[in-house]
Amino acid sequence: MKISVIGCGYLGAVHAAAMAELGHDVVGVDVDESKVEMLNSGRAPFFEPDLNDLVASGIASGRLRFTTEMADVEGARLHFITVGTPQREGSDSADMRFVDASIEALVPWLHPGDLVVGKSTVPVGTAARLAALVAKSAPGTNVAWNPEFLREGFAVKDTLAPDRLVYGIASGDETATTLLDEVYASILAAGTPRIVTDFATAELVKVSANAFLATKISFINAMAEIAEATGADVTQLADAIGHDVRIGRRFLNAGVGFGGGCLPKDIRAFRARAEELGIGESLAFLREVDSINLRRRERVVELAAQVLGGSVAGKRIAVLGLAFKPDSDDIRDSPALDIANRLAALHAVVVSTDPEAIENATRNYPDLSYARSAEEAAKGSELVILLTEWKDYRELDPVAFGSIVADRAIIDGRNCLDSVRWREAGWEYRSLGRP
Ligand code: UGA
Repeated sequence: MKISVIGCGYLGAVHAAAMAELGHDVVGVDVDESKVEMLNSGRAPFFEPDLNDLVASGIASGRLRFTTEMADVEGARLHFITVGTPQREGSDSADMRFVDASIEALVPWLHPGDLVVGKSTVPVGTAARLAALVAKSAPGTNVAWNPEFLREGFAVKDTLAPDRLVYGIASGDETATTLLDEVYASILAAGTPRIVTDFATAELVKVSANAFLATKISFINAMAEIAEATGADVTQLADAIGHDVRIGRRFLNAGVGFGGGCLPKDIRAFRARAEELGIGESLAFLREVDSINLRRRERVVELAAQVLGGSVAGKRIAVLGLAFKPDSDDIRDSPALDIANRLAALHAVVVSTDPEAIENATRNYPDLSYARSAEEAAKGSELVILLTEWKDYRELDPVAFGSIVADRAIIDGRNCLDSVRWREAGWEYRSLGRP
């Protein structure tokens, strides 16, 4: 099927390449010329495992191309909207300007029988609003909502082999379901569950899934606070409660908490939307979820001062990790970068490193100091703080690493190191929620 994908960021670039991989004829549209150029040359504009290969093979097959011209969607029957919905400046709600602009730009090119498929994470009610708008300005074109659940670092796998497909369709719109089934035929043939529902439910599935995950992480981080006050060990606690299949162990890793371009802004926008709907109380707990999460960052700064004898000022601190999670170069709302900045603001001499995110970090925070490797960052440091659990950092040898630093002191902000091994190698080892 010929399809268009409007917006080629983390979501759209992966979706476009994955749809070409499934055999469709795909045109990706983005306003950013350099991104389009890079994608057309067969390279991903950001770090994401397996994406370079997928884009390169799509381009080579002739089934995938990228453009800045909306006119190039001509001939496509299905148009995926995959633009970002960031947090609005000065507010908790979602900034819908990119979704609205892409629909406005797309409408002149729509034909009767086309289907516009929203994938962006949006406030509940958006699909109905856009469907009314499209019905008026492009009669005969329909709208569906098909949220995306990909995780950065696993984006290709999550797109080609998702846990489930959700279609939000207007009542009685059988053709939308038929078209989406055709696009996802091979994914469905693999036995992927498919839920066909109304617009509001489809929109809510996405935000409630992210709200649940954020709540799960903040729950265990709240337990880490309790553990710190009582001498308990939050990792053992998580292992023990995680054996209960109703609870499950995943997303119970205590540490510096969640960041990224999704969880933080999605819980804020969800709460803001509930308030608009006059039911703010229903999601008031998400404010606590947010607060617990942000408190963990401050806790690391307090711990650093404690380890360094009361103040971080003038102390050399190595920060390992800048991305919001491993296997990504994404620094949006990254706890690691936030902590590095907080320490620098307190006049610590911070040297940060990350296997993939230095370029993005340097662009946004040119005043921070960066090193190319963990060893370079840690040279002569009085404290090491591990904030993103990249494999390279998890596998550091505490003995060899100990010979580089000035003082063997480490804060494990992700509870990912073997405390016994590090202590045996002479390190003062501190972590979050563990004695
Ligand atoms: C998240 C969701 O997991 C995806 O399902 C969703 O599709 C995506 O948002 C989205 O809305 O597009 P992502 O932001 O890529 O995906 O990252 P996660 O793997 O969810 O991690 C989010 C944050 O939580 C990271 O900073 C991670 O370090 C942190 N985290 C995760 C913890 O602190 N503890 C855990 O146990 C798990």
